[in-house]
Amino acid sequence: MKTEILNDKSALDLENAGKILREGGIVAFATETVYGLGGNALDSNAIIKIFEAKGRPQDNPLIVHISDPSEADKYVYVNELFNKLAKEFMPGPITVILPKRDVICKEVSCGLDSIGIRVPLYAPARELIAKAGIPVAAPSANISGKPSPTKAQHVIDDMNGKVDAILIGDDCAVGVESTVVKITGEDSLVICRPGAVTLEMLKEVCGNVTVDPAVLAKFEGKPVSPGMKYRHYAPKAAVTVLVGTEEQFFDYLKGKADFGVLCFDEDAKLLEFKNSMSLGSCFDLSEQASKLFDCLREFDKLCDVKEIYARMPEKNGVGLAVFNRLLKAAGFNVIEL
Ligand code: TXA
Ligand code: MG
Repeated sequence: MKTEILNDKSALDLENAGKILREGGIVAFATETVYGLGGNALDSNAIIKIFEAKGRPQDNPLIVHISDPSEADKYVYVNELFNKLAKEFMPGPITVILPKRDVICKEVSCGLDSIGIRVPLYAPARELIAKAGIPVAAPSANISGKPSPTKAQHVIDDMNGKVDAILIGDDCAVGVESTVVKITGEDSLVICRPGAVTLEMLKEVCGNVTVDPAVLAKFEGKPVSPGMKYRHYAPKAAVTVLVGTEEQFFDYLKGKADFGVLCFDEDAKLLEFKNSMSLGSCFDLSEQASKLFDCLREFDKLCDVKEIYARMPEKNGVGLAVFNRLLKAAGFNVIEL
């Protein structure tokens, strides 16, 4: 397939990309979290194309993107808590799961009776959706299982030749996918996937916030969000998270070969290794989030890296999202030193 390369700074290109979406094509586009691969949520054929391009498991539902929270009512049954969350966090990096209306095709929800609704903060994404004039179902624009794309080049690497168009935009400022929450009661919700709308922020708005167990540990039961059960975000090399001091980490690596190190700016000793990369300052959780997927993809380019050892990130704020993605990249392989 010939993929059209368009630019989201051009009004004409946005118009064209909107038309492609409206007419049943699939288009990759930037958001503030990660790049998405969009298709018309009212059109089964468009959604099937998305699953094919990504090689996505058939039971993992897609998020529906709209340009304004006031549109949500057309596609889901909204409630008071949704309105509160929307007022506080939309547009922004949050997805709220609610009971779906019939107009959204069953391929989007994979047969579930709910869908996730999201209003991206990144303005060109909202313009695209508004120009398309339809709700846009969009998973992350990576091949299933690979780290999510946070730069246009990542999308080109994964999707060129598989989609109708790639709308080139800015690097994704947040860098990890949206916080997914499921409303479970009048004043209660569960975090299915942590993101930049943090547990702490949600607690300010909602009385009863819990974190799905699948976020923090390998979960054998049925997670709230089907996507949480898959090994995700994985570079080619095996990833291990090491818990301990920089000194202990350094000692652990003695005598090993063909490894990469994922650490922080403060880890001077670790940064001396040949294949080491920093996620940024250990105190700057947002910086870590914005760099994580790019670092994981960079390791794929280093053929002498057979294993990656990562420092343990902080678990508060957006650090919880960094920790969750790293755990999943590591297939929950964590070693206490
Ligand atoms: O930031 C984001 O959310 C990005 C950008 C493109 O907006 N999108 C994204 O989509 O990350 P995706 O498909 O990669 O992840 C969607 C997650 C999956 O874990 C899926 O299982 C969960 O949301 N999800 C979607 N609909 C759901 C539903 N009805 N019930 C439970 N979980 C749902
Ligand atoms: Mg994804």
